[in-house]
Amino acid sequence: MQSHAIEMNHLAAAARTGLGRFNLYAGIHKALRAFMADTLIAVGRADPTDDADVKHAMARVEELLALCASHVAHENEFAHPALDARCPGVSQPVAEDHEAHLRHIAHLGDAARTLLTLEAGERESALQALYLALALFVADNFQHMHVEETVHNTALWAAYTDAELIAVHDALLATVPPPEMMLVMRWMLPQLNAPERLGVMQGMRAGAPAPVFEGLLTGVKGQLNVREWAKLAYGLGLSPEPGLVEG
Ligand SMILES: [Fe+2]
Repeated sequence: MQSHAIEMNHLAAAARTGLGRFNLYAGIHKALRAFMADTLIAVGRADPTDDADVKHAMARVEELLALCASHVAHENEFAHPALDARCPGVSQPVAEDHEAHLRHIAHLGDAARTLLTLEAGERESALQALYLALALFVADNFQHMHVEETVHNTALWAAYTDAELIAVHDALLATVPPPEMMLVMRWMLPQLNAPERLGVMQGMRAGAPAPVFEGLLTGVKGQLNVREWAKLAYGLGLSPEPGLVEG
């Protein structure tokens, strides 16, 4: 119990170090944690006797795995070179994790595709096996993201200004294809806190075409409770009622 309290104090101190600093990982990791947890639950709930249920759950698994692979590529391509340039050696353990994740992703994808070819009678054990394997993948990723948000962020904050980190993030975002961006937004926007959500939506309004912004707004409205939606609408200068733009 005491060591848990010490660990929490240590984490709170680490988070305070980053207070007011640009956090490269926070938003996308909230999205990934939510998508991973939700997909794991969907596999656990999938009825092995129901074709549509199994198909739907496997499609969700494939969608998650594709996003995880893409996320690894983005971090390897943008976050790690930044770390390697000014904090040599820091990214090595996480880079090794990434290699392992890509192998897990390939195995889980094979399992999901195989499951779709099985007779209904063989699906129950295959679903349970996939559920357990996916749970370990999620657990591993949660540990991994924790290291990135503490060790990597601490190193980045010490070695880079916020303007430099924002430039790295902008360069990364410029490579994300629109369908992937929409998927990320679907999982990220509802999971952010209200000020974070407003910040992302303000950025989208400034940088994305109006129909894209409107589509995101409609999508997120359906995922927020009344208070959350009112805060977002107020922050964006919109009426909480749909379609009634105030000034
Ligand atoms: Fe990572």
